[in-house]
Amino acid sequence: MGGWSAEREVSLVSGRGCAAALREEGFTVTEIDAKPDLAAVLTALKPDVVFNALHGRWGEDGCVQGLLEILKIPYTHSGVLASALAMHKERTKALFRAYGVPVVNSIVVPRRQASESHQMKPPYVVKPVSEGSSVGIFIIREGDNRPPGALGSDDWNLSDEVMVEEFVPGRELTVAVMGGKALAVTEITTGGHAFYDYESKYSAGGSVHTIPAKIPEDVAASAMRYAELAHEAMGCRGVSRTDFRYDDTVPGKHRLIALEINTQPGMTPTSLVPEQAAYKGMSYGQLVAWMVEDASCDR
Ligand SMILES: Nc1ncnc2c1ncn2[C@@H]1O[C@H](COP(=O)(O)OP(=O)(O)O)[C@@H](O)[C@H]1O
Ligand SMILES: [Mg+2]
Repeated sequence: MGGWSAEREVSLVSGRGCAAALREEGFTVTEIDAKPDLAAVLTALKPDVVFNALHGRWGEDGCVQGLLEILKIPYTHSGVLASALAMHKERTKALFRAYGVPVVNSIVVPRRQASESHQMKPPYVVKPVSEGSSVGIFIIREGDNRPPGALGSDDWNLSDEVMVEEFVPGRELTVAVMGGKALAVTEITTGGHAFYDYESKYSAGGSVHTIPAKIPEDVAASAMRYAELAHEAMGCRGVSRTDFRYDDTVPGKHRLIALEINTQPGMTPTSLVPEQAAYKGMSYGQLVAWMVEDASCDR
């Protein structure tokens, strides 16, 4: 848990929650705040399994997974390749397309270029091509005549490449996949927030989750199918979560668009994945215990 990515704090909350639940399930748990000396710490500890509760760079992008492969310690969630691919939003979309999972157009450019001129006609979204938790996302509305100047800032510490993506109006859906099977569809509404930003993700009352989402049955079935295809396209293991936009703003022209897949989705007791598991009758403790039993190495 922890680590040193932009999502460190979220990971600490996920990690503490999982550790407490695993102890209740009878596991012996050592909590490790991951630092660059992780290989030495794990070599000394010799755990049977690593429960990976890291988010973001190093922990979610294949790096820690590679270390665990070398140390031959089975670990939870996706392996090296799936983790690395999923961390890159543009590579992810290439695979989604190949598997028939619908996405919208985007281009990847250096952040300074995106800060200087519109790379496509507004409305569009600019986001770091490899980051999570809505860190560094800008929404440029129709009629905005300026591109996001903050992208050119000298203080920018996120990926230098950004994705400029067509804005999809409408509603926010997410689907968890566990062992290849979709659990449920949750709709996320963010009230006063302009979009599902960092604040609404992590502040109390920042967002409302409706499960199952109140959407037409065929749309829910499609979202579940696309999430399973996305999981398969990336070669994910264990649990993943695919984020969607459901655009029902034009009558008769509904569309479901996949944004990204999360290979290390939030795992606090009130996160989306534990909520969907609970909806399916599985407690938080049962969910984390399942993840430990499912842990493995790529080879
Ligand atoms: N193309 C888009 N159209 C509309 N909203 C978007 C788009 N891309 C991102 N968003 C908004 O930003 C949020 C975060 O984007 P996402 O691609 O899921 O990245 P991450 O969750 O890894 O930061 C989404 O949940 C959504 O609310
Ligand atoms: Mg997301």
